[in-house]
Amino acid sequence: MAITVENNVFSLETENTLYQMKADAFGVLNHLWYGAKTGCCMDYLLDYPDVGFAGNIYEAGDLRTYSLNTLPLEYAAAGTGDFRIPAVSVTHEDGSSALDLRFKEYHIKKGKYGIPGLPAVYADENEAETLEIMLKDTASETEVILLYGVFSQADVITRSVIVKNRGNSPIVINRVHSLCLDMPYGDWEWIHFHGRHTMERQAERTSLIHGIQESSSTRGTSSHQQNPAVLLCERGCTETQGFCIGAALMYSGGFQTQVEKDQLDQVRVVMGINPDTFAWTLEAGGSFYAPEVILSCSGHGMGELSHHFHDIIRNHVCRGKYKLAKRPVLINNWEATYFDFDDKKIEKIAKQASELGIDMMVLDDGWFGKRDSDTSGLGDWFVNEEKIRGGLKSLVERINKMGMKFGIWFEPEMVSEDSGLFQKHPEWAIRIPGRNPMRSRYQLVLDMSNTEVVEYLYQVISKILKENNIEYVKWDMNRSICDWYTETLPKHRQMEMPHRYVLGLYELLERLTGEFPDVLFEGCSGGGGRFDAGMLYYCPQIWCSDDTDAHERTFIQYGTSFFYPISAVGSHVSAVPNHQTGRSTSIQTRGTVAMAGSFGYELDLNKLSSEEKAEIAAQVSVYKEYQSLIYNGLYYRLSNPHDDNMSVWAFVSEKKADVLVQGVVFRAASNTLRRRIRLSGLDTVAKYQNVKNGYVYTGQALMSGGILLPEIKGDDVSVEIHLKKIEL
Ligand code: DGJ
Repeated sequence: MAITVENNVFSLETENTLYQMKADAFGVLNHLWYGAKTGCCMDYLLDYPDVGFAGNIYEAGDLRTYSLNTLPLEYAAAGTGDFRIPAVSVTHEDGSSALDLRFKEYHIKKGKYGIPGLPAVYADENEAETLEIMLKDTASETEVILLYGVFSQADVITRSVIVKNRGNSPIVINRVHSLCLDMPYGDWEWIHFHGRHTMERQAERTSLIHGIQESSSTRGTSSHQQNPAVLLCERGCTETQGFCIGAALMYSGGFQTQVEKDQLDQVRVVMGINPDTFAWTLEAGGSFYAPEVILSCSGHGMGELSHHFHDIIRNHVCRGKYKLAKRPVLINNWEATYFDFDDKKIEKIAKQASELGIDMMVLDDGWFGKRDSDTSGLGDWFVNEEKIRGGLKSLVERINKMGMKFGIWFEPEMVSEDSGLFQKHPEWAIRIPGRNPMRSRYQLVLDMSNTEVVEYLYQVISKILKENNIEYVKWDMNRSICDWYTETLPKHRQMEMPHRYVLGLYELLERLTGEFPDVLFEGCSGGGGRFDAGMLYYCPQIWCSDDTDAHERTFIQYGTSFFYPISAVGSHVSAVPNHQTGRSTSIQTRGTVAMAGSFGYELDLNKLSSEEKAEIAAQVSVYKEYQSLIYNGLYYRLSNPHDDNMSVWAFVSEKKADVLVQGVVFRAASNTLRRRIRLSGLDTVAKYQNVKNGYVYTGQALMSGGILLPEIKGDDVSVEIHLKKIEL
């Protein structure tokens, strides 16, 4: 049994971890522990200091040391004496906002709970167990149901929350975080992932300051600027040693992660929908479902923690035919042509690609409506026969005849003012009556909270997918959202719209991915502006960044790798000088970096020299040889590009028999030693042979002494070492 309950102590055990909480004599649910399995009740760690200005619940009588403000709480509510960041806050009909949550009942169920309308980690009945704990505010009859999914094998716990209004009048939910985690002891640092368009998910590790630190988005998407994932590490925690906890929110809209270090040095983490762009009126009898958080911890460093997340996301979040299958190597025409193409140009690129072993041609932006630049056409999802002569079907057939699959780009959530759709339905674009809307990339956003919009998009997109042999869809989204207002809601409910937008998006994705399970959907938002576990439920890969520069990509892919599996990372070789940075790197370096993901090309192959084409043909076959190791092996970060002069990583097969070390050394240096890199995750007593030069090492030597990288001449030089375990 993964879940046990004894004397009101709830223990959630996975293979290596214990999560524990206790409903105390007052019915307050205390958080006791999240960490290594201890084999005992951790309530002896609870302390009751007499802290000035800490209030006491009424039933505590003269017990002035019993305070919600100092105890570790499992789910903290606002307004009743815990002055730290709350996980939940509501406004009642009378205008008051106290919520006094006390334990009422619990249920244990086989299998994993689901969440209506939202993506959630899934499992067979025997793979997971569910615990539901009901807390109640008796005065208002508000129930808060805490949901826990326990994945023993994976060392993962999921959390979600349902708020139920059992009273007679509506309440307004002002915030409802999916995670609340109190950590009264420990010297913690946090890692969050900040960035910008073309430079997403830059890992930043800092000490905690007293007070609140935050990583969040109010952009309507999870965003390029912050990512809904966070790591808490004990000081000194490395890739291979030390304790750390990770949390990733399965949500693609505005989110908030807050970490508070309080007056007693206790730490609280909350994570969920961003309350700055959220409020929800819950009618009497209604329920609200919060998105899910995936939680894991490791006593063996951040590498192992990443493995837990890669495993759960790949096996229990991603879905569809391509969930575990090898993805086709693709060629995308965006950086090759931008809007300047016709069917002949596309055919020519595809022809050349097919000769180099590439599997799929992806037709990017510009194939529909009046779309010769980014100023017009969005919303008109009908092929532009002036560019694609003979129509889409004919082009797809011509490409298929070359032995290639065909994929296509959509940006369903957007509309150009210069489009047929906008002419017909200006009211479908998000804007506030009486104000001009914000334009971004000249475009407006469709109101995805409106069921008519979702239905229209479903009809036009499914028609194209039904009529043509399309095996891949790139689902793009190229701006942040503001001007929140919808005609479909009364004025006092307008703050529901950002969340309803995400629900509409998920509904559309669910319908389309359900109806076309053999189509590979790749998520995209100007690159990686919506790279989150929510989108990965519908799209098993996401275009990682619009920055295709191999040097910068190593930083982006380094940050992305903390939570998201390598198969999820869409990654392409593009032309030099690179279109984003102007930097020129070798075709080998570009290939090595793009191979650490779901691989493809994004350049005009016809403009390359015969040597470069030969190199590409070789890369495609090397990638196909390693693809299974790259997807299914354990991924190890062997250096930190922010601190080291290189970015090096490795894939180690499940049985530790096959090892692929790849990376880029950034700057050459004269008169110095060769660089050394220590490997991870090998079989210590086994012998490993370098496939290229036949040299043999023990696993222990490779992990302790490391391996010398080849002598490097020049900047941004790639390295690749393939080792195989040998029986001697
Ligand atoms: C942004 C994407 O990230 C690019 O790859 C490309 O599809 C453009 N949009 C097209 O507008």
